[in-house]
Amino acid sequence: MSDSAGLEDQEASRQAVASRGAGAEATAQVVEVPGAHEPAGVQGSLPVASLDDPHLQPYAKDPRRAERLIAVMLVIGILGVAGYGAVYWQGGQNQLEGIFLGVGLFCIGFGLSAWGKYLMPQGPFVEERHPLASPEPDRQAMASAVVDRGKMVFRRRGFLGTLLGGGMGVFGIVALFPLVRSLGPKPGDQLDTTNWRKGSRLVTIHGRPVSVHDLEVGGSLTVFPEGYTDNEPDVATDQTILVRAAATDIVTEPGRETWGPSGYLAYSKVCTHAGCPVGLYMEQTQQLLCPCHQSLFDVLDGAVPVFGPAPRPLPQLPLYVDAHGWLRAQAGYDQPIGPGFWERS
Ligand code: FES
Repeated sequence: MSDSAGLEDQEASRQAVASRGAGAEATAQVVEVPGAHEPAGVQGSLPVASLDDPHLQPYAKDPRRAERLIAVMLVIGILGVAGYGAVYWQGGQNQLEGIFLGVGLFCIGFGLSAWGKYLMPQGPFVEERHPLASPEPDRQAMASAVVDRGKMVFRRRGFLGTLLGGGMGVFGIVALFPLVRSLGPKPGDQLDTTNWRKGSRLVTIHGRPVSVHDLEVGGSLTVFPEGYTDNEPDVATDQTILVRAAATDIVTEPGRETWGPSGYLAYSKVCTHAGCPVGLYMEQTQQLLCPCHQSLFDVLDGAVPVFGPAPRPLPQLPLYVDAHGWLRAQAGYDQPIGPGFWERS
């Protein structure tokens, strides 16, 4: 479109707007949308908006009456707000301020709402839209330009691309390091054995030997093999609960006739469920309780689990009393201590 045609369109638009302002309600002026805004390649003029279009008419049947009502509401609203200001200025009175402010805001709000609902064009308004797609040749030219540009960019950055690929590869390898190195040293046979040996003397965590006279019936004590109370991993696996369930020898299972001298019974303290310390001896029921998930073990029956998720008994440590009255182990545990791993080992 030429410059002169554009100027003519703008002039026509100005005239149409001027005539609408002069007598919009009385006459049905037509507003032409200037062709200067047409997209390239679009033929013909845009749709025409007419002031007598029903969509542009106010909703109110009698707009002047609605206008008067709205004006009254706005005036009342203004007076209400002004009254609030006056009362406040005079020193304030909560109830009056509330009334004035409430009435003022309500009336102004009502006026605004009514204005929008009854005096504004009711619509709905739909703007027709021309196709926005570019002509086919333009689109093909753009697509091939993008492809060519991409090829050029990557060709020029081939060296960096190689470096990037190498970097990602090295990163991937290095990312595997924690999986290998963070597993720590191999456990060896630590998970299969403890430090309890034939003749190990039972001692407290402070290294004090335990004699056959130390516990009353119903008492309990956590014990360790002598010489292994300083190392934390040793303490964790060797910990053993010693209970005195009676004054005479106790046989918990066939084959364990000599394991419970003078009513002393010793079981691994490492729970066979998830490895928590089985710390509570209940004398009344002769049970050991694991506090983690409430597994209960029968002390007089080889510590078989009678309640809870523990899948197998606590291993029992065979005891004997030496010539000096010290409690000692006849041997180490006859099975691995602790939870599920041991059932598969
Ligand atoms: S760890 Fe003992 S019951 Fe779960």
